Amino acid sequence: MTIIKKPDWYISENEVTDEALFNKRRNFLKLGAAALVSSSVIAEKLAAVENVKRESLKFQKTTFGKGLELNSYDQASTYNNFYEFSTSKSDPAKMAHTLKPNPWDVEILGEVENPMVISLEDIYNSYPLEERIYRFRCVEGWSMVVPWIGVTLSHILQKAKPTSKAKYVKFTTLVDPKQFPDQKAGKLFPNIPYPYVEGLRMDEAMNELTFMSVGMYGKMLPNQNGAPIRLVVPWKYGFKSIKSIVSIELVEEEPLNTWKMINDLEYGFYANVNPNVDHPRWSQAKERKLGSFFKTETLMFNGYEKEVGHMYKDMDLRRYI
Ligand code: MTE
Repeated sequence: MTIIKKPDWYISENEVTDEALFNKRRNFLKLGAAALVSSSVIAEKLAAVENVKRESLKFQKTTFGKGLELNSYDQASTYNNFYEFSTSKSDPAKMAHTLKPNPWDVEILGEVENPMVISLEDIYNSYPLEERIYRFRCVEGWSMVVPWIGVTLSHILQKAKPTSKAKYVKFTTLVDPKQFPDQKAGKLFPNIPYPYVEGLRMDEAMNELTFMSVGMYGKMLPNQNGAPIRLVVPWKYGFKSIKSIVSIELVEEEPLNTWKMINDLEYGFYANVNPNVDHPRWSQAKERKLGSFFKTETLMFNGYEKEVGHMYKDMDLRRYI
């Protein structure tokens, strides 16, 4: 792995993070001094706050998202959806130290001439990593702006050489009850059926915006955000951006994605951000950016209509939710 001088632009974000950590640490120290809790409890809590040490990454800056106002690292890494840990937004940051993101392999299989297993090292060393600032809009109505670091998915897929039968791409998250507490054997009511699965049509997967992220805010992904590698599809609702991926399979038929399997009246395969089509239980016209008091208008395709609108021009977007 390549180690790295911190990029200049990163400094201000870094300071925010460090300050927050510093304050949390100071609070624990105060608690310790007052002998309110045992030292082992303090150690456990500190481990949870600091989670796993993440190394800086070497990457190229790009103009994607120029001018957008970033959310802070703290906001993006403490308000998470990661059901393999919990349905609570604040739990993944405290629980995700059980995930071991290194070593890690991703299998690329199915309708390809050149099936491969790529390691994290391959990704760090064989592809130029770049930073892209993208809007991220959850189907629940919250949003954020994140500087992701990663690789265009099409660069990875091209190396595997999709055959003419490859019409869709199916992504699968790791199953390992030792690392993901909600997958514990014998658990009577897991939050969702596992593995978490997502899919894209081939043209969506090959679109330049579709990104495999291995980092954010200058460093490797924190576990709660889907370490070590996750999908980021900025014009679709956040549930399409599957975390901790172990397999990428090129297939002929549309894969059944987890949320569509759970409730196909409310969640579809396409999940394009669309302010004109409400969720059956709430409006999608507005969103609240993490940290903001006021709501703002949600943009068609989350603001990426110019780049992706052509892929859906003959589709009824009320039907293909
Ligand atoms: N991937 C897996 N494996 N498990 C999940 O629960 N949640 C999805 C998506 N990817 C999820 C997942 C949902 S609903 C959202 S909104 C985003 O991850 C949240 O990403 P974030 O926690 O980095 O903001």
